[in-house]
Amino acid sequence: MKYGYFDDKQREYVITRPDTPLPWINYLGCEEYFGIISNTAGGYSFYKDARLRRLTRYRYNNAPLDSGGRYIYLRDDDALSPQFWSPTWQPTRTELDGYECRHGMGYTVIESTYHGINASARYLVPLGVNLEIWELSLTNRRPTEVNLSIFASVEFCLWDATDDATNFQRNYSVGEVEVADGVIYHKTEYRERRDHFAFFTCSEKWAGFDTDREAFLGRYRGWDSPMGVERGALSNSIAHGWQLIGAMHIKVALQPAERRTIIFLLGYQENLPEEKFDPPGTQTIDKRTVLPIIRRFLQPAVVSTSFIDLQEHWRGLLGKLQVHTPDIHTDRMVNIWNVCQLMATFHFSRSASYFETGTGRGMGFRDSNQDLLGFVHLMPDQARRRILDLAATQLPTGGAYHQYQPLTKSGNNEVGSGFNDDPLWLILSVAAYVKETGDWSILNEAAPYDNLPGSEESLYGHLQRSGRYTLDRLGPHGLPLIGRADWNDCLNLNCFSGSPGQSFQTTTNKDGKVAESVFIAGLFILAAREMVQIAARREDDQVALVYQRALAQMESAIEDAGWDGAWFRRAYDDFGQPVGSKECTEGQIFIEPQGMCVMAGCGIGDTRARQALDSVREKLATPHGILLHQPGYSRYYLHLGEISSYPPGYKENGSVFCHTNPWIMIAEAILGNGSAAHDYYSRINPSKREEISEVHRCEPYVYAQMIAGREAATYGEAKNSWLTGTAAWNYLAVTQWILGIRSEYDGLRIDPCIPPDWDGFDVERIFRGCRISITVYNPQHVSRGVKKMEVDGLPVDGNLLVLEGSPFNHQVHIWMGN
Ligand code: GLC
Ligand code: GLC
Repeated sequence: MKYGYFDDKQREYVITRPDTPLPWINYLGCEEYFGIISNTAGGYSFYKDARLRRLTRYRYNNAPLDSGGRYIYLRDDDALSPQFWSPTWQPTRTELDGYECRHGMGYTVIESTYHGINASARYLVPLGVNLEIWELSLTNRRPTEVNLSIFASVEFCLWDATDDATNFQRNYSVGEVEVADGVIYHKTEYRERRDHFAFFTCSEKWAGFDTDREAFLGRYRGWDSPMGVERGALSNSIAHGWQLIGAMHIKVALQPAERRTIIFLLGYQENLPEEKFDPPGTQTIDKRTVLPIIRRFLQPAVVSTSFIDLQEHWRGLLGKLQVHTPDIHTDRMVNIWNVCQLMATFHFSRSASYFETGTGRGMGFRDSNQDLLGFVHLMPDQARRRILDLAATQLPTGGAYHQYQPLTKSGNNEVGSGFNDDPLWLILSVAAYVKETGDWSILNEAAPYDNLPGSEESLYGHLQRSGRYTLDRLGPHGLPLIGRADWNDCLNLNCFSGSPGQSFQTTTNKDGKVAESVFIAGLFILAAREMVQIAARREDDQVALVYQRALAQMESAIEDAGWDGAWFRRAYDDFGQPVGSKECTEGQIFIEPQGMCVMAGCGIGDTRARQALDSVREKLATPHGILLHQPGYSRYYLHLGEISSYPPGYKENGSVFCHTNPWIMIAEAILGNGSAAHDYYSRINPSKREEISEVHRCEPYVYAQMIAGREAATYGEAKNSWLTGTAAWNYLAVTQWILGIRSEYDGLRIDPCIPPDWDGFDVERIFRGCRISITVYNPQHVSRGVKKMEVDGLPVDGNLLVLEGSPFNHQVHIWMGN
C-alpha cells in the first residue's frame, strides 16, 4: 500500500493522505537556519544547533504523534456555530475534502480543500537569511462570498532545548516577549547574555494576537481546539513567564474564485552586544537590523524570487551527478532523494530528526567523516571546512572526541573518546576529498588538537596520528584493540556493566588490552592503502613504507586470527574468545567484517572473499536487506554489552542495519558480481519499498537506519529514517561501484559492475570543474569489464579519464565486454 507517489519531474514526493504510518518529514534550510517539517506541518526550527539554539518547541514521543509545529487554523466566520479546521490537517485533524503534501528540495507545500476553501501553504527558508517563510494562499471555491479568520501560531522554545524540556521551575518564570508594529518578538534572556531573539510576523494587519499559551488555548485545552480560534478573537495577551507563543489573527473576505496570499515569517536575529537595546538603557530590542529584513521578505515578489533561487541552488547540487539507468528506483534515489538526504546528514550528522531529538548528540566523528564520503563532490568547500573542524577535535593521542557540538565546535566531554575506529575514518574522508578535488593543499592546512591554540599541526600530521593510534593499540592476535566500541556502538567488549542505566558507551570495567576488532583491522588496511598513496605522492617514502608494512602485517593478522573457515570473524572478547564464529552459540556471523575486509582487499587473491560473501548470502541476506548478525542474542551478555540489550531483530541485535548493506554491495562489485550488488541495493531502496509502505512505515524517499530483522515480530518495519550513514554509503555503492564512476587521485575511473541484463546507462558528472558526459554500452551483457573507452571520439587505453588540467567538457563512451 502507498500513501503517495514520486513526482520525479518536480523532484517531489507527493503524499496523498495525511495519516501516514509515521510523520513523513522534510528539512528546510541549507545554511544556518534550519527546520524540520512533517507532512502535517509538525516540526521545529533552530539556528545552527538543535540543542543550543532552538526556536520552537516540539514534543517527541507524544500522543497524538507529531505534537508541535507551524500551525495554521482557518475559521469560517459565516458559520452559525464555530467551525474551524487546520488546512495542514494537524492539529485539529478535521477530515479534509482534499489533501496533498509535496516535499521538495528544501521546501514543503501542503495543500487542502475544506468546504470549498482551498488552502496552500508553502514553507521554505530562503538562501542567505535566518528566517522561514510560510506562504499561505487561500482561494474561495464557493459560489458566495466568505468571511474567514486565519490564525497562525508557534510555540517558542527557550533556546536550550534540553533545559526547555526539563528545567520548569526556572522556565516558568524566565520567559519574555515584546510585541510591536505587528511583530511578536521572543526575547527570553536577551536582558542578560543572549544577543539574539526570534520574531514572528505576517504581511497583513492583524485583528489580534496572543503570546501567552494559556490565553490562546484556554485552560486545559490543547492545540486541536484553541479557545481563541473557537471564539474567533484573540486577547492580545503578553506572556510573563509560563509558556510563550506567537499567535496572530487575520480576517479576510473572499469573493467567489478570489485568491489571497498571506506571508508569515518566523526568524532569528542577532544584534551586536553594544546595540541590543533601543533606546540604550532600556530593555527594548533594537529593531534596526531586523526590520529591513522583515520588510523585504514580506514582499510577495521577494518570496517568489527566494523560491526560484532555492530551486536553482538545488538544481546546481543535483546537477553534480545525474544518471539514467534501466532502473527507475536507482535513478530517483541517485538523482534526487539520496542527495537530499546527504545534505541532511552533512548538516545534522545524527542530531536532529524525528528519531534524534537534537538534544542528545552533536556531530559524530565517525559519522560525519563517513557522511563526507558521499558529500565531497556536492560542496567541496564546505567539505574542506568540515574536515578541518573534525580534525580540530582530534586528541594528541590520535584518538578523537566521539562527538562535538556544532555551535561551539568543541568536543563533547560527556561521551569523550576511546572508540577505536574513530580516527581512521578521518583518513578516508580526507582521501575522498583529495580524489574528488585534486586539492592536495588541504594536507598542509594546520589544525589544532582538542581545539587548543598552539597545538596546531598539518592535516597530514593528523592523519599520521590517526594511523598510529591503531598501531599503538594492537592486541594479543596483532589485531586492533576495540576500545569502547568500533563502528558497532553496541558491541561493548570492555564494559561489563551490571547496573541498570549505566551508559554502555562510557562505562569501561576492563583494561582493554585483550578485546580486539577484526572490523578495525579491515578498516585500518583500507585507510593504510590511502596513506601509502598520499605519502607516495608527497614523496614521503618513509611514511609510505611504514604503512605498506603495517598493512601487510595487518593482512596476515587477519589471515591468522580473523578467518573462521567460511567467513571473517567479528572480534575477540575480553576472554580472548572469538565473536562472530561458528564456535559461538549466538552471533555466529556478522556482516561488518565481511564487508570491510573484502573492501580492504582481504581474501581476494584466494577464495576467502568469495566464501565470505557466499556465507552472507546464505546466512544473513533476507528480502528486506542483509542482517547485522545471526543468530541474534536471545539474552543479555555481560561481556558483549548493549548489542544484547535489544530483543533479537532490532537495532544492533540482528536487524537489517542498513548502513552496513552497501559494504556488501561494494564487496560484491569488487568481485565482479553486479547482479548481487544491485539486488542488495534494491532490497533496501526506499523507492522500491514504497509499495509496502504499510510494512516499511518510514518515508519511502529516504533510507532508514534499520529495518527490523527476521527474528523481530515487526520484520520489515523501518525505523530511524534520515540521519544514518546509509545515505553516504549507499550513494557510494551505487554511483562509484555499481555504476563504477569513481574519482581517484589521478582522474575519474569508469569501471561499471552492473546487472548483466542492463543494456547500459548514461551519466552526467561534474568533476574538477569539467562536465563529463558518459555513455556506457553493454552489448555483450556482461557484469563488468571495459573493452573500449573513447574520450571525445578518440580511443583511450584503460578506463581512467585523466583531465590534464584542461577545463573542457568531455564526452566519454564506454563499451563493456570481455
Ligand atoms: C549509529 C551511530 C553510528 C554507529 C552505528 C552502529 O548509526 O550513529 O556511529 O556506527 O549506529 O552502532
Ligand atoms: C548508536 C546505536 C544505538 C545505540 C547508540 C548509543 O547510535 O545505533 O543503538 O544505543 O549508539 O548512543
